[in-house]
Amino acid sequence: MTELTILNDIPATPVKTLPDAQTVTAVHHWTDRLFSFRVTRPKSLRFRSGEFVMIGLMGDNDKPLLRAYSIASPSWDEELEFYSIKVPDGPLTSRLQHIKVGDQIILRPKPVGTLVHDALLPGDRCWFLATGTGIAPFASLMRDPETYEKYDTVIMMHTCREVAELEYGRQLVANLHDDPLIGDLVADKLRYYPTTTREASPLMGRITDNLLNGKVFADLGLPPMDAEHDRAMVCGSLAFNHDVKAVLEKFGLREGANSEPLEYVVEKAFVGDGI
Ligand code: FAD
Ligand code: A2P
Repeated sequence: MTELTILNDIPATPVKTLPDAQTVTAVHHWTDRLFSFRVTRPKSLRFRSGEFVMIGLMGDNDKPLLRAYSIASPSWDEELEFYSIKVPDGPLTSRLQHIKVGDQIILRPKPVGTLVHDALLPGDRCWFLATGTGIAPFASLMRDPETYEKYDTVIMMHTCREVAELEYGRQLVANLHDDPLIGDLVADKLRYYPTTTREASPLMGRITDNLLNGKVFADLGLPPMDAEHDRAMVCGSLAFNHDVKAVLEKFGLREGANSEPLEYVVEKAFVGDGI
């Protein structure tokens, strides 16, 4: 009798659990092309602010469909945050954009990346240069106290085509200034320079142009970049990264890596059209 009871407790079909599953705790849609979401954090996951991991959903044939995503939350956060594009026909994001609180995603807990403090030599000012979803690693780094311990001034330049695309970063910076833990640290050090290129806004123009014509230095009351004082981290499209690198080299900065820290580092915000 006892044996029968036990047998009856076994489900007819085994319940499938996703490998490396994490549960969605919040979702926010910023525009029809951009959303952010938070998930539970694996207890064993340690990462450096600025790194990325592979996340995704189960695809056809029970195979995980994974893509690289920068972790947008800082390394001290109890949860993980991601900031995502919605590509209408994108294999992952055409589905990922519909996730809801309580859903599960796959997260491979192997963080990597070059946008980390260890890949830069010490300096006075650090420039975060991003277009579009390229702000994600800086959403992590801007919320990390280590960033302000390492630098006197941190400049976040974020450029998008339209004003609404800047909103995630704008709110993040505003909340940082109000944050009881890090607000005072950030107050004098973080300079935010958001620009648009295809819709009128208070500050306009491409990052490359605003660096080359000196407008950003004049607007913020900073000297032009030089290799002794300035460090930079870059995250955007391939074309953007290519053009920014040329500008930084013009100011005398050299590209570094985890294995050889120098004056600037670069990461792709996505792989796509471009150079
Ligand atoms: P895919 O087949 O991967 O892409 C289809 C096309 O959509 C691409 O060819 C490209 O033209 C375009 N596209 C893809 N991603 C973007 C994007 N982010 N912005 C603009 N156009 C894009 N994406 C994020 O949204 N947030 C991140 O934090 C992020 N971090 C990344 C970090 C690294 C190191 C790399 C290499 C990529 C990162 N990506 C990020 C891109 C991400 O890996 C996927 O490409 C994206 O989620 C779309 O997946 P998909 O399967 O829907 O379409
Ligand atoms: P622009 O509107 O002048 O092309 P995208 O949506 O195409 O990825 O672009 C995001 C932002 O990055 C836009 O403001 C765009 O400006 C800018 N951008 C695109 N390519 C470059 C580049 N090669 N150099 C500097 N800025 C760029």
